[in-house]
Amino acid sequence: MTSLHLSSAVVPVTGAASGIGLAICKRLRAEGATPLLLDVDARKLDAAVREVFGADRADPSRYGYLLDVADAHAVEACLAQIKADHGPITHAVANAGRGGAAHVLDITDAQWHRVMDVNLHGVMYFCRAAARQLAERRSGAIVTMASIAGLAAKQNRVAYAASKAAVINLTRALALDLGALGIRVNAVAPGVIETPLQTDPAFRAPVCERAALRRVGTADEVAGVTLFLLSDLASYVTGETIVVDGGLTARYL
Ligand code: NAI
Repeated sequence: MTSLHLSSAVVPVTGAASGIGLAICKRLRAEGATPLLLDVDARKLDAAVREVFGADRADPSRYGYLLDVADAHAVEACLAQIKADHGPITHAVANAGRGGAAHVLDITDAQWHRVMDVNLHGVMYFCRAAARQLAERRSGAIVTMASIAGLAAKQNRVAYAASKAAVINLTRALALDLGALGIRVNAVAPGVIETPLQTDPAFRAPVCERAALRRVGTADEVAGVTLFLLSDLASYVTGETIVVDGGLTARYL
């Protein structure tokens, strides 16, 4: 048994086929837990399941679930299927998100809605479906993936900034609704993390100059804080947002 006591955990993770979600699944597996990988990208999903469970053991259909979190009915059906396949879940990670650069004068309705549908509505649909299973057990923990973009803004990111700020307060509201049922809900707010989402190579130099730790972060460093929040080490922490940004937002001047 490891110090995090997650070895009997059954944990669906959205956006698990890449970047931070994949790193969370690998850490969960290393702790002996059963991560379930949920993602909209079928090709990446199969490869990710093999990466997490090992090519020999991995029947992708058992641990990988194709899901668009923006589809509320699909989210309900997916969580029901997971319960049928693996029993009731014990924890959940609402990690799926998408970027979207656009100036407010140019952003189309479709661009705005797609970011909101995935980054905000998708988090709500998934947390609701997960919480219904956790409520039956009267225990559990949920982590949502926010961003420092939800605490401060960046140019050309109106939809992303609004969606991530909403995730932070959604997390507090979920914590209040679910606390009496023994369920904790916390957010992680990463800074600039090296993943396929960070497609702009220009991000690196300013972060290396401004962040206290003088470097970008890794997906595994976000995964470590996520596992802490899922675990009983964080048993009196709920409604909180933990910033994982190497001190980028610690700076005033
Ligand atoms: P990524 O692009 O490497 O991975 C995101 C995964 O989510 C992909 O596998 C993608 O297929 C999946 N996905 C996208 N839309 C989906 C949908 N509708 N339904 C299900 N799956 C969907 O991105 P990364 O960097 O790992 O981001 C993960 C989370 O962390 C996101 O919520 C992102 O906003 C957040 N974040 C990332 C930061 C970074 O610097 N990489 C900084 C702050 C927050």
